[in-house]
Amino acid sequence: MPNLAGGLGTQPVTRMSFQIRLNHLDGGQVAFSGEPEVSIARSAALAGIQLTTGCLQGRCAICRAYLQQGSVRLRRRPSPSALTSPLARTDGTVLLCAIVPLSAVELTPLSPWTGPV
Ligand code: FES
Repeated sequence: MPNLAGGLGTQPVTRMSFQIRLNHLDGGQVAFSGEPEVSIARSAALAGIQLTTGCLQGRCAICRAYLQQGSVRLRRRPSPSALTSPLARTDGTVLLCAIVPLSAVELTPLSPWTGPV
C-alpha cells in the first residue's frame, strides 16, 4: 500500500520569481518581485506601484519603458491592432503590460509612476 504522507498534496509549491527594478527618469529606484507568467505592469500593481497605463493589451503604448538590464518575453501575442510589436519596437522600448521577466530586470518607464503606496 502506498504511503501518501508527504505526497503531492502536501508538497510546498515553489514559485520562481525575479527582482524587477524600476528607475525614475529623474533618479531613484524601486524594486519588487515578479513572476515569469505575470506581466511586469501587473506585478508592479501588486507591489503597490502605480504605473501610467491605458489599454493593458499592448495597443496604446503608454506603458513604454527602456529595458536597461535583463531578459523579457511577450506574455501573449500582441493584438493584431497593436501599434508595434512590443519586443520589436524601433525606439528601444518595451511595453510593461505585455512582457514578463525571464531574469532579474531593470527598466525605466517613460511615463510618470508612483509608489509603492
Ligand atoms: S497599457 Fe496600453 S500598451 Fe500597455
